[in-house]
Amino acid sequence: MTRRTRALLLSYSLLTALACTAAVPTASGPTLTVPQAPAQTPQTERRPDVIFVPTRDTVIEAMLKAAKVTPADVVYDLGCGDGRIVVAAAKLGARAVGIDIDPLRVKEANDNIQKNAVAAKAEIRQGDLFEADIREATVVTLYLLPSLNVKLKPRLMEQLRPGTRIVSHDFDMGDWKPDETIAVDGKTVYLWTIPTR
Ligand SMILES: C[S@@+](CC[C@H](N)C(=O)[O-])C[C@H]1O[C@@H](n2cnc3c(N)ncnc32)[C@H](O)[C@@H]1O
Repeated sequence: MTRRTRALLLSYSLLTALACTAAVPTASGPTLTVPQAPAQTPQTERRPDVIFVPTRDTVIEAMLKAAKVTPADVVYDLGCGDGRIVVAAAKLGARAVGIDIDPLRVKEANDNIQKNAVAAKAEIRQGDLFEADIREATVVTLYLLPSLNVKLKPRLMEQLRPGTRIVSHDFDMGDWKPDETIAVDGKTVYLWTIPTR
């Protein structure tokens, strides 16, 4: 891991940790920051493993180009945020599916699909990406964290067909060496291909 990736990872993890705390005003005035108790989360809902940070357009373009997305593809964005990658893939003619655990992101993504008039090609599912059925994907896009990529790898290997391309914004996947590493706009895009079994 390069020094730049380490620095990126640190700021990204700090943001995620901060997102898991709540500012609570105290009676005497000053603000006290306390961790949110897990018990406050309804049992059916799971907290996102990483906060929403959007991928900028230039990087999305590079990700979809690296994966050589065509209208024949089915693109899954795991942790789709506001759906910008889903919309971009649908505009290339691919069928695109976004999965996000956060209901607010799911709403934003659906609004984005409507706004861009790509509903015929695009779909958003609310759920946990670690439990999603992704078998039909021919391209998977990720902007998660290195640890989440590593955790996801067995599922990618198990569910995806040989030849399926995986592109990740900024984060690698442990000891799985990428086929390509592309620098774009100060960011890094990694490309892997599911090998034949
Ligand atoms: C860094 S954002 C990336 C958003 C989008 N893919 C992009 O590149 O613009 C990560 C997203 O993953 C979602 N997420 C985190 N953990 C998740 C999980 N276990 N299942 C599904 N989505 C998750 C978050 O809600 C957030 O929207």
